Amino acid sequence: MVTTSQHVERSDDEREDAELNPVFVRPGEATALPKFRMPADESLPETAFQIVRDEAMLDGNARLNLATFVGTWMDDYASRLYLDAADKNMIDKDEYPQTAAIETRCWTMLADLWHAPDPDHTIGTSTIGSSEACMLAGLALKRHWQHARKAAGKPSDAPNLVMSSAVQVCWEKFCNYFEVEPRFVPVSLDHKVLDGHDLASYVDENTIGVVAIMGVTYTGMYEPVEQLAAALDQIEADTGLDVKLHVDGASGGMIAPFVQPDLAWDFRVGRVVSINTSGHKYGLVYPGIGWVVWRTAEYLPDDLVLKVSYLGGEMPTFALNFSRPGAQVLLQYYLLLRLGRDGYRRVQEACRDVAVYLSGEIGKLAPFELWNDGSDIPVFAWRLRDGYTQNWNLYHLSDRLRMKGWLVPAYPMPADLADITVQRVVVRNGFSHDLADAFLADLKAEVDYLDALSGPMPSERQQPGFHH
Ligand SMILES: Cc1ncc(COP(=O)(O)O)c(C=O)c1O
Repeated sequence: MVTTSQHVERSDDEREDAELNPVFVRPGEATALPKFRMPADESLPETAFQIVRDEAMLDGNARLNLATFVGTWMDDYASRLYLDAADKNMIDKDEYPQTAAIETRCWTMLADLWHAPDPDHTIGTSTIGSSEACMLAGLALKRHWQHARKAAGKPSDAPNLVMSSAVQVCWEKFCNYFEVEPRFVPVSLDHKVLDGHDLASYVDENTIGVVAIMGVTYTGMYEPVEQLAAALDQIEADTGLDVKLHVDGASGGMIAPFVQPDLAWDFRVGRVVSINTSGHKYGLVYPGIGWVVWRTAEYLPDDLVLKVSYLGGEMPTFALNFSRPGAQVLLQYYLLLRLGRDGYRRVQEACRDVAVYLSGEIGKLAPFELWNDGSDIPVFAWRLRDGYTQNWNLYHLSDRLRMKGWLVPAYPMPADLADITVQRVVVRNGFSHDLADAFLADLKAEVDYLDALSGPMPSERQQPGFHH
């Protein structure tokens, strides 16, 4: 193990020397600092900066990360705002009342965008991301159900939540952490998303709600919210059970209002009581912001909202964390003002166009079969055509693309379809037609490479590195 003695106990001369020395040959740079123990002594800021920056350089390039849904580009004004507000803690609402007021304006705008019956009398909050937003929405469903059960003199100790087997992991976490039985409706080739088929077998008097996903993480497909509501209407007519919907619009919550404005997936559907989105996905902000809005205050039980007084004032809080960045809220507000509805529409349509173009081109390639085409949210997935090759798979292709800097994950579909591997591209703001063409060229070249490597006669193989 490297000891800290290599960079400590410096005399004045040594310190001066350290400052004069060229970068990369100063103590701590020419040597190594310990990685898993806190160093005993200080380093020059330049040295620590250089070390951290150099390590981070080994990460993938965020703009070429086609795996993430999360914003990887903001303009210079946003960067300035970010720096200005980096020191603001969102919880300090008494101290930063303007940031708190802006937070309220943001979720009120979302309530309006999502057709809340009375946006000025809804309730909502920012969160650290959609995961927290989903947990808060899930907790509200659970508590609401518990109150109703207790009022009816019925047991409330075995709640369940009905959702697709292709939900994002945050819903599994919610069920695990908050002791709710998850009831997964399996996706299948006939029912690629939760569509209401056989819903009655999953819903009972202990069901706290049904989750509909606008933009399934695995594939980007929308679940038909109106159709799910109709299935629940039928269940109510048959059994008297009035089961509500939460819409997980982590991605689609900021796509559908602009790209599919006539699609009724939001509070226009009477059974939808809450909606979440990730401000840091198609809300176009850097990581660290989500939103959740309830149809009316009635669906967020009062006893979930705690009042804290130790920051001055008496602040209501409904959140899993206490402290979190305030800057992201300001960034979200900046974008809502900067882009407006028309700007968001143009950005999201541009992403959709690139996604549909790219999926069209990939669908034409011999090895691939599209799962969907990116016309819901600008996300699409494909699989290897049955019988195309035994010699390589999408994991190999993912590795090859990584060598070119493109991060394109391959993964199994959820339970029941887990023998199907797909590969997915998430098109985000900043993934231009030019970049899409560059990606396509690399994808084709890597397919040729893999095909050639696994060709019939070893002697006919092209040498790696000489192929392109
Ligand atoms: C449908 C869905 N729900 C929830 C989440 C979790 O969101 P976050 O990463 O903002 O916590 C994601 C993230 O990909 C998602 O796709």
